[in-house]
Amino acid sequence: QRKWIAIGSLDKESKDKEVLIRGRVQTIRPVSKTITFLVLRQKGFTVQCVVTAAPELVSKQMVKYASSLNKESIVDVYGIVSPNEDIKAATQKVEVQVSKIYCVNRAIEKLPINFEDAIRSEAEIDAAALENKQLARVNRDTRLDYRVLDIRTPAKQGIFRIQCQVENIFRNFLISKGFVGIHTPKLIAGSSEGGSAVFKLDYKGQPACLAQSPQLHKQIAICGDFNRVFEVGHVFRAEDSYTHRHLCEFIGLDVEMEINEHYFEVIKIVDELFVAIFDGLNENCKKELEAVGKQFPFEPLKYLRETLLLTYQEGVEMLQEAGVEIGLEDDLNTEAEKKLGQIVLEKYGTEFYILHRYPLKVRPFYTMPCSDNSAYSNSFDVFIRGEEIISGAQRIHDPEFLKTRAEACGIDVGTISTYIDSFRYGAPPHGGFGVGLERVVMLFCALQNIRNSSLFPRDPQRLAP
Ligand code: 4AD
Repeated sequence: QRKWIAIGSLDKESKDKEVLIRGRVQTIRPVSKTITFLVLRQKGFTVQCVVTAAPELVSKQMVKYASSLNKESIVDVYGIVSPNEDIKAATQKVEVQVSKIYCVNRAIEKLPINFEDAIRSEAEIDAAALENKQLARVNRDTRLDYRVLDIRTPAKQGIFRIQCQVENIFRNFLISKGFVGIHTPKLIAGSSEGGSAVFKLDYKGQPACLAQSPQLHKQIAICGDFNRVFEVGHVFRAEDSYTHRHLCEFIGLDVEMEINEHYFEVIKIVDELFVAIFDGLNENCKKELEAVGKQFPFEPLKYLRETLLLTYQEGVEMLQEAGVEIGLEDDLNTEAEKKLGQIVLEKYGTEFYILHRYPLKVRPFYTMPCSDNSAYSNSFDVFIRGEEIISGAQRIHDPEFLKTRAEACGIDVGTISTYIDSFRYGAPPHGGFGVGLERVVMLFCALQNIRNSSLFPRDPQRLAP
């Protein structure tokens, strides 16, 4: 068994060692007939390889062969490592003197995206423009059309590794708090959030749709004595929202739990969970965050040890004071959310906060009204940098009241009768929340567009790749 070394782990410790590495050819710089430089890339890390014609190294033909490789081809290289602090072309401060080189798979000659163009930041393009230099910009649609190339860039490699960490911390934190991971069906009979934004389909002659959220089934699991549950799963929304933060398919991180006395018990889980997620990312994803920041520069998220909790009314009043026209029972639009984000940051120094006690009329049918004023509800939304990442609430657990509320909200009760019936056999008070994974990553890294944090985004205009 030969000893393979990851490019990312090559450092001064590897000095004088013979290594075997595999990578993609990122750049080729022929210097003469006897020497050519290759930069090889693996998982976003790069190393410079020197192909020199010499009796103990390679032949002149080999140098010619290396110079003729196509960019993005996959090659295996044997060689000896030597430190070189001055290398600017690669991430690793060592180079490899090549003794053997094999092409494992050759990429086509003309790539649709040039890698150097794909890793360029907007700031670099703008700075060059000030000096009358035109640098190529790869637009988002081209990137998405050739996603297989775009996701090779260090920033995208970082983003999806960060996403994996968020999911991992979410799971581990909740398991440590006694939650059970479940999976609910994505083929269901009726809409789960109300409204018409569902993908309809034919289920063996019966009308059905793709689940808008695991909402109804996670609640049935609570009625089935699973006490505390979570799910990481696909969520489908057919809404025609062509915005920077809506997808037609996204990953939902969902939580549902029994409540002993107050829906603040759910809010406390949100608080602790997200402080753990942010701390975990800052601690475990330093290299990834740095790689993302090189292409999409951003300031680290400001958050408090104990998350700021404001009532919806307090939020609206702060907006009114700032001159925004909004009523106490209106929903917050995107602009108002952003504005409130700025006000909260200035006043409390945090970009992560929770608003609770929303007007009942802007919440889904299953939301529990406040006991002291039924125009409001035991519900909350959570924001990062002025944009919503979570919505949650205490749920109605009385079946007759649930049915009345569903009817009042225009839901075809026949399609959710098994859900409502689940409450007839005794249901505990409970609440929960749903998080959009792509939104969390987009906003933590201030990526501006959710398509940057969805590996293969689905929006109203895109179904491929
Ligand atoms: O606000 P939503 O629709 O709430 C629910 O699904 C409830 N069942 C959750 C609950 O337990 N009360 O969605 C929850 C989160 C949003 O805050 C947002 O982060 C994300 O899911 N989300 C979307 N992400 C991407 N594209 C879309 N079209 C999204 N719609 C919601």
